[in-house]
Amino acid sequence: MGTPLLPLLVVLQLFTAPSPAAASAHISAVISQSGLDFAKDLLVSHAAETLTPLSVPDIEKSASIPLVGTVRMTASGIVLHGLAVTNSTVAVGDTGVVVAATLARANLTMEWSYSYNAWVVTITDRGNASIQVEGMEVGVSMGMKNQNGSLKLSVMECGCYMKELDITLNGGASWFYQVFIDAFSNHIRTSVENAITKKIMEGALKLDSFLGNLPKKIDLDSVAAMNVTFVNDPIFKRSSVEFDIDGLFIPSDETAVPRGMLLGDIKFALPLGSSSKMLWISLDEDVFNSVSALYFKAGLLQRMVDKIPDQFLLNTASWRFLVPQLYRKYPDDSMLLNISATSPPSVRISVGRIDATVDLDVTVNVLDFGKIVPVACMSVSVAVSGAAAVSGNNLGGRVDLDYFSFTLKWSKVGKLHTVLVQASSCPSSRGSPSEMHISSLLTQK
Ligand SMILES: *[C@@H]1O[C@H](CO)[C@@H](O)[C@H](O)[C@H]1NC(C)=O
Ligand SMILES: *[C@@H]1O[C@H](CO)[C@@H](O)[C@H](O)[C@H]1NC(C)=O
Ligand SMILES: *[C@@H]1O[C@H](CO)[C@@H](O)[C@H](O)[C@H]1NC(C)=O
Ligand SMILES: *[C@@H]1O[C@H](CO)[C@@H](O)[C@H](O)[C@H]1NC(C)=O
Ligand SMILES: *[C@@H]1O[C@H](CO)[C@@H](O)[C@H](O)[C@H]1NC(C)=O
Ligand SMILES: *[C@@H]1O[C@H](CO)[C@@H](O)[C@H](O)[C@H]1NC(C)=O
Repeated sequence: MGTPLLPLLVVLQLFTAPSPAAASAHISAVISQSGLDFAKDLLVSHAAETLTPLSVPDIEKSASIPLVGTVRMTASGIVLHGLAVTNSTVAVGDTGVVVAATLARANLTMEWSYSYNAWVVTITDRGNASIQVEGMEVGVSMGMKNQNGSLKLSVMECGCYMKELDITLNGGASWFYQVFIDAFSNHIRTSVENAITKKIMEGALKLDSFLGNLPKKIDLDSVAAMNVTFVNDPIFKRSSVEFDIDGLFIPSDETAVPRGMLLGDIKFALPLGSSSKMLWISLDEDVFNSVSALYFKAGLLQRMVDKIPDQFLLNTASWRFLVPQLYRKYPDDSMLLNISATSPPSVRISVGRIDATVDLDVTVNVLDFGKIVPVACMSVSVAVSGAAAVSGNNLGGRVDLDYFSFTLKWSKVGKLHTVLVQASSCPSSRGSPSEMHISSLLTQK
């Protein structure tokens, strides 16, 4: 779709228990009044642009004029120009939203002609006219339902009203002026009102087909896709609309071309004040757990580490006093760590915080004549807690290390000193909280 995704001021909220009304919704997005105003402004200005020039069907009439006889008149080439929106409002009702706009300074141009028979000759005349439209208002109320996991938009009411038409005829006989106005002004008014209504209905139909064609899943990469199927009908509350989506990660098509994540295209920004918060997004922990399960199943949560900030630690020589057997068997060999999750990392969300635990196997390998030889394995359990935050253009978060434990699973080189474990598997976590991004957990092979 060509619609640009716009910078939105987004607030992220995390919740634990799925709300009872929305059993299968794991993400809900609430568009606040300022978000609705933002969307309305876009929609209205786009509509006003596409509405003009608007051609109105020709009108033909006959009238019987004293002293003149039967006159056939036509108003043709009626075109509406220069619609400008003065102000517009959007309000949320029980079943949908109502958008109303006051328009200013619309004008119409048209051609007129008439003919009548006087004795044996036919008298014709033609010219043009311009019409100023004063006080024009347009209103449309739209409802939205969930149909098969997509949003179905319907126009419940659409109306257009013009207060006054100020018609200026160029040319023509003087008697014709009042005749024309009597015969045509109501017709022109109705025709223009109908043409505008029709155009708005067409626009709504386009919007509906845009909504209907929204994808039901968005591929994150070749492993995971987010199920963005709408669940439940949108909930229209006082000055906000809530949309619920399934939100869980599902396996993506193997052939999928990786695209930005659902939120990847939306610019996150720190909310400037309560009035500017346009969109509230709530996620529950199942969203995180579903993606962690997929990555785990795909075998992506493991990594061979051969570079660390303190590179000298990845050489057996550094350990010759602490783990003498290691150095004796493999003198001056490079070491590699195979860090691999033993179960999907699990995420729990409670008020104001996220807790995550990861169970890992860390296998210590040495590079012995080009061959990787496992020498010991530890099982490591890490629990972190933190809060997600929207900062700049990133969805990030601060993560604090809560709990760290390890046990030696097996070893071919005797007992390992604890320093090895702390230094090598969690180099930056000694005491100080470390910044972390969710994506860094999801390291690719
Ligand atoms: C009618 O609107 C057009 C477009 O805005 C403008 O150029 C033109 O001057 C207007 N005519 C009158 C008579 O106001
Ligand atoms: C636009 O403003 C006028 C005057 O301030 C007001 O009467 C009218 O109701 C407003 N229209 C809308 C749609 O807000
Ligand atoms: C309307 O008619 C006047 C003269 O009758 C002419 O000068 C003017 O160009 C015409 N305008 C249009 C838009 O045809
Ligand atoms: C809902 O989707 C199913 C399968 O995709 C389709 O067969 C059915 O016609 C759809 N129903 C409506 C009302 O669109
Ligand atoms: C996506 O979510 C909808 C609604 O919860 C569900 O009916 C559908 O089966 C899900 N799709 C997949 C592929 O899991
Ligand atoms: C890393 O360890 C895991 C399990 O401990 C094992 O399945 C995987 O094959 C190892 N990776 C490499 C590259 O040795």
